[in-house]
Amino acid sequence: MNLRLLQFLSCCVLCVYGWTDNRIRKFKNDFSFGVSTSAYQVEGAWDVDGKGESIWDRFLHEHPEVIADGRNGDVACDSYHQYQRDVEMLRELGVDHYRFSISWPRILPTGYPNVINEKGIQYYDNLINELLKYGIQPMVTLYHYDLPQALQDLGGWINPLSAEWFEDFARVVFDKYGDRVKYWITINQPSGVCVDGYSGLIAPGVVSKGVGDYICVKNVMLAHARAYRLYEKEYKNKYKGQVGISLGLSWAHGVTNATENEDAAAIYRDFTIGLYMDPIWSEAGGFPRSVRDRVAKKSKEQGYKESRLPTLSPEEIKLIKGSADFLGLNHYTSFLVEPADQQFDSPSVDDDMGVKISHNKNWRSSNSVWLKSAPYGIYRLCLYLNKVYNYPQVFITEHGWSTTTGLNDQSRVTTLRDYLSAILFAIEDGTDLRGYTVWSLMDNVEWIAGTSDRFGLYEVDFDSEEKKRTARLSALVYKRIIEKRIVENEWEPENWQIEITKGKEREEL
Ligand code: NOJ
Repeated sequence: MNLRLLQFLSCCVLCVYGWTDNRIRKFKNDFSFGVSTSAYQVEGAWDVDGKGESIWDRFLHEHPEVIADGRNGDVACDSYHQYQRDVEMLRELGVDHYRFSISWPRILPTGYPNVINEKGIQYYDNLINELLKYGIQPMVTLYHYDLPQALQDLGGWINPLSAEWFEDFARVVFDKYGDRVKYWITINQPSGVCVDGYSGLIAPGVVSKGVGDYICVKNVMLAHARAYRLYEKEYKNKYKGQVGISLGLSWAHGVTNATENEDAAAIYRDFTIGLYMDPIWSEAGGFPRSVRDRVAKKSKEQGYKESRLPTLSPEEIKLIKGSADFLGLNHYTSFLVEPADQQFDSPSVDDDMGVKISHNKNWRSSNSVWLKSAPYGIYRLCLYLNKVYNYPQVFITEHGWSTTTGLNDQSRVTTLRDYLSAILFAIEDGTDLRGYTVWSLMDNVEWIAGTSDRFGLYEVDFDSEEKKRTARLSALVYKRIIEKRIVENEWEPENWQIEITKGKEREEL
């Protein structure tokens, strides 16, 4: 074989196997492994013990026809009554932390702290105490999509008072649980709350594309910052906890590296990453210039007096800038981007961006149309965040995969391993990554998909009285990863028994 050919071939081998060299990469002992759920999706007991109505209760009761399999969150996994079984599963897995959310209307049925529902307070007290009893750190999300309907009736996140409502709610929660909770997430996925939330497709069922969604983004970012500053001022010294925000960020690059595609990808990233990251993590603070310019220009053409993207005052910019101890990263998939060849509703965020997104046809498919596996995306996203935002501290607060029913979820196992391997490379290449959280502990109500998309490490039998939970193959594999802190692609369990191996009573720790 001639030398040139040999050189060429060895170069190819390096490129292909660069990510699968023989070195064993390990998660450090203080890297935190966990699982995640949210109140509406698992608790059930929607009107039990004084809980108020949320926007999701109202929306799915009024529009049962939008739920793929007709199953709403009225009962869900019944975690309100089954929380001890949930903690038992966490002990079976051996997780370090459990991310769950507090239902605002369960503890403040009117939305305001004028009425505090003691039974609701007691529920989260019990859950937190049960977790700590077994050495599992609670990671608490204050808001995961379930606004009290009473506040929606006042305009919800479009009302400028919403930031103050949220701060008042946060104060109640910090007062009650601050002594025991060290990880706080203010808001789950502002893009889901606002851009999806005002598309009309989900709760609150209001359509205000390209207008209400941007007002909502401003108010949600302010709400987050006010809760952060409140904790910083009144609780941090005493309790030494950390407060972050969870952003839903996908990786995106040009469908080819032609300039027009890479430019389209940059626009997409500015609207889906920058709009939420820049206000907190950029040097200048505020919304990205490219987004401001684009929306202002379009708004003018459309005859609006001012940009549909509200401005942030210098005081607001200052309040939000730096308002996070860590970035909670919810990451599921990646997209390929090119200039749009279609018309969008006008106005809308899609129309403002003017790009078309797709998946590579070779990426493995889950049970959800929007979710395909592209593990390199998490690596590229981490390196992008490091470069643009100067190495923020990151905690992966969600990553997951959907299947149909069935315990042999090999596709979830493969995805879990592929992504965790890519994450090890992202850490090796400088990402300050502190933890990883699987979405989800168990099957639950996937919003308008009902229970047709199964995200659980545990399968839930929704037809059974006790919402029986059974470990899937992926639960055993995740347990093994947590125990060994390495990804072993060949490992298989000898039997499917899952036992409690971690989580000693706190007294024994
Ligand atoms: C992100 C959301 O936070 C969560 O509620 C949802 O179930 C997962 N994505 C999967 O779609």
